Formats: sequence, structure tokens, C-alpha cells
Amino acid sequence: MKTVINYFLLVIALFFVSINNANAQGKEYVPMLKLNNGLEMPQLGIGTFAISYEAAKAACLEAFKKGFRHVDCATAYRVEGAVGEAMKESGIPREEFFITSKLWVSDYANGKTLASIDTILKRFQIDYIDLLYIHQPIGDYINAWKEMEKAVASGKVRSLGISNFDASKERFHSIVDSMKIKPVALQIECHPYAQRNDIREWVKPYNIFIECWYPLGHGDKGLLSDPVIKKIADAHGKSIAQIILRWHIQEGFSVIPGATNPVHINENINIFDFKLSDAEMATMRSLNKDKRFFNVTLQQLDSWATGNF
Ligand SMILES: NC(=O)c1ccc[n+]([C@@H]2O[C@H](COP(=O)([O-])OP(=O)(O)OC[C@H]3O[C@@H](n4cnc5c(N)ncnc54)[C@H](OP(=O)(O)O)[C@@H]3O)[C@@H](O)[C@H]2O)c1
Repeated sequence: MKTVINYFLLVIALFFVSINNANAQGKEYVPMLKLNNGLEMPQLGIGTFAISYEAAKAACLEAFKKGFRHVDCATAYRVEGAVGEAMKESGIPREEFFITSKLWVSDYANGKTLASIDTILKRFQIDYIDLLYIHQPIGDYINAWKEMEKAVASGKVRSLGISNFDASKERFHSIVDSMKIKPVALQIECHPYAQRNDIREWVKPYNIFIECWYPLGHGDKGLLSDPVIKKIADAHGKSIAQIILRWHIQEGFSVIPGATNPVHINENINIFDFKLSDAEMATMRSLNKDKRFFNVTLQQLDSWATGNF
């Protein structure tokens, strides 16, 4: 009798293993990146740019169910509260999450930054931020960084990052070479049509990860129907978006696709049960045409610091 029960339990266990392998998703499949300060960050997260408060909350709740634990947010997106509400409602312990936000330019002025970080924490209803980016390389960003360093010292922030510093090599170096705390990541627009090979060279000596925004070209129809990527997608029984995200993962980027459609959210985490071959990676790399979807000059960015935004 005991042998029959053991056999029965084994069959059930094998059944669940095979289901998991057929549909490999969930937090246990998302690789962790070791940051240059010793902390770890899930390589895949969900983005929350340009969506409503309600959509951000619903997307995060769905994403958490599917296994996402890393959320990219920013004060400028006005949805930090929505992310916090979703975290709370999910019932998942705080330590499982990796929460990113970005300090907006109007919060850079010396003396203002620490109070702004407290306000961000209040909106999320959490007592530390895993990664805080300085959103733009403009205005009083140097003094803002020094204040952000104080927030790390007091435990309110765990890691610091720079966002959009690809706009100026000089400003990139003014942070990475001169500040006490080095950034762990540089967040920039990056996808198969703009692979940013030059900027990837900038970060190499510092062990700074590239985190890709607009990883799916902000939903660009051309990119999401590219015939070359479609051929690779068909060969793997995956969607074009999944192939693009898998390419990001194999390039070693951190990637934060935005998605509100539950089908997309599910697809975006279901990219760990296949691999692109060397030849397929080479084909994906050949698609680079340095075509960005968001084009602003440093001069335009600078004008944002004076309120022209
Ligand atoms: N640092 C910065 O200055 C900066 C700037 C921009 C963005 N970001 C961050 O980067 C994140 C990603 O950028 P993004 O959200 O603008 O653009 P994205 O991730 O490149 O694309 C999002 C679009 O792709 C669609 N999509 C998502 N998954 C899909 C799938 N599997 N199949 C087909 N379509 C899919 C979404 O549609 P649905 O919504 O219908 O699912 C949405 O329209 C942002 O959310 C934000 O967190 C940072």
C-alpha cells in the first residue's frame, strides 16, 4: 500500500514539474543581477510610465501574481502611490520587492531632496527604496546626488542610479568619477533598433548595469512586427515582444517593459524557458540602426530645469 501511495505522489510531483517546465515563469525564473554595491536586483521588472493611476495599480497587481517583483517608477509618473497600494494588496512581503523610483528635477535643489525622498516613501507606504535614480542630468544634479548619498547613509535608499546621463559624457563622468557613492545602473532608451553600443562602453569600467527603457520601442508597431524578429519568434513559438525581451536578457541588460494588458504581462515574464542561439543573437544585433524613438537634445533637457516642461 505504502509503495502505491509513494508512486502516486511521485506521479503528481512529476506532473507539476512538467507543467512548470512547459510554462517557465514566476519570480524563481527571473535572474538576479549582482550590483556593484553587493546588492541584488531582478533582471526583469515592470515599467509604469505614461499610464493612469488605476492602470498602474492593476498592472502591478497582475504582474505580482505572475512573479514580477521589480517595479520601475518615478515621481514624474505620479503613480508611486498606486504601486504601493498594489504591493500592500498583494500580501507579498516587502523584502521580496525591488522598488525603483526617480527623483524629479524640481526636487534637486539643495535642502529639498531629503524631504522629497521622505514624500516618495510616504507615497509608496514603504520605509526604504531599493534603487533611486536621478531622473535627468540637469539643474543642480550634483547637490541632489550628495543629498541622495545621505539618504543611503540613513537607510532610506539602498542603491543609487543615473537616468538619461547618456545625454552628456561630461555629466556622466561628473557623477561616476567624483561622487562618494557610485551609481549601480544607468537607465537609457535601448532596444533592437537603438542598441547603444557606444554608451555600453562608457559603463564597462565601472561595473554599472544598463537598464533599458522603451525596451519594446514604447510599443512601436514597426519594431513589434519586424519580419526578421518574427522569423525567430516563429522558430521558438514565441511572440516578437518575447524575442526582444529575451535578447535584452541575453545581452545582460536589466529590462523594464511597461504593460497594462494581462496577456502582455504574462508573455513578458514567460521568457525563461528558451534561449536565443549565438546566430540568433547575431541576427538581433544586426538590426541596430541607432534609431531612437524619444529624441531630445541636451539643450532641450536643460530647459526643463528652469520649469519649461
Ligand atoms: N528614465 C526615463 O526617462 C524613462 C523614460 C521612459 C520610460 N522609462 C521606464 O521604462 C519603462 C518601459 O518603457 P515604456 O513602458 O514607455 O515602453 P515599452 O516597455 O517599450 O513599451 C510599452 C508598450 O508595449 C506594449 N507591450 C508590452 N508588452 C507587450 C507584448 N508582450 N506584446 C505586445 N505589446 C506589448 C504595451 O502595451 P499594453 O500597455 O497594452 O500592454 C505598451 O504600449 C517605462 O514604463 C518606465 O518605467 C524610463
